[in-house]
Amino acid sequence: MSGWKRVRLDGRARAWPGTEREGRVVEVVIQHGAADIAALVADEIEKLLAAKPDAVLGLATGSSPLAVYDELVRRHEAGRISFARARGFMLDEYVGLPDDHPERYRNVIEREIASRVDFAPGAVQGPDGNSDDLLGACEDYEAAIAAAGGVDLQILGIGTDGHIAFNEPGSSLASRTRIKTLTSQTRTDNARFFDGDVERVPRHCLTQGLATIMSARHLVLIATGTGKAEAVHQLTEGPVSAMWPATVMQHHPHATVLVDDAAASRLQLGAYYREVFATKPAWQGL
Ligand code: F6R
Repeated sequence: MSGWKRVRLDGRARAWPGTEREGRVVEVVIQHGAADIAALVADEIEKLLAAKPDAVLGLATGSSPLAVYDELVRRHEAGRISFARARGFMLDEYVGLPDDHPERYRNVIEREIASRVDFAPGAVQGPDGNSDDLLGACEDYEAAIAAAGGVDLQILGIGTDGHIAFNEPGSSLASRTRIKTLTSQTRTDNARFFDGDVERVPRHCLTQGLATIMSARHLVLIATGTGKAEAVHQLTEGPVSAMWPATVMQHHPHATVLVDDAAASRLQLGAYYREVFATKPAWQGL
């Protein structure tokens, strides 16, 4: 917006005390549909990779990020984005799915994004849900993320029960990568990936903890459809509580929640969020 003077801050001071942002708990961006959301998120990733070609991306599985991955592939094919020096860390992995199972998250990420762009071999990692030493695998995963310098931009979806990654209700807000038991709600939600058979959805997973996710420098959560409306309302407007694990994001200095009209339908301040986004200074980006 003309007339606004951008205040330049160094990377560390940029987020708090909020000179560049309004300091709302999370920034809610309401769009008409998944394609509009995907374009905004891809813009942010394109900008990040242009400024920092060896950026570390946090990659979610599930349906929510698929339109973003398709848009990134389009931009890669058009020569606009390269992942050649970037690295990726997955959020979570089922325990005990055979290595070649199509729903093993490592295979999903390979299929949906890693193999479609120019990530170097081994540049995308996930926790090893088939390790003989699951606790050791969790520790190794935390160490690998730290050794990479932490995640620059973390893509997230949200469960209907408010989970992020597989941090189910009741998860410690201070949790790190660990083994979790999935709720029956999550297993029912995910049965669509297992021919509708909830019994085939694993009961256990390895997941980044809430504190692990909170260590990423920018959190970008995508939610579409009325099924996510209550979780989005709690995430942005409810009290911070382990009962709605995503609410921990209210403590993050740079968290963006992109929702379609349906997922925004329970928001009390929806009209205000639309107005803020429509009038925000262009230089702020997401
Ligand atoms: C996936 C993940 C989960 C999903 C969530 C929403 O890696 O961590 O938190 O993001 O279950 O799933 P979808 O996007 O399929 O509705």
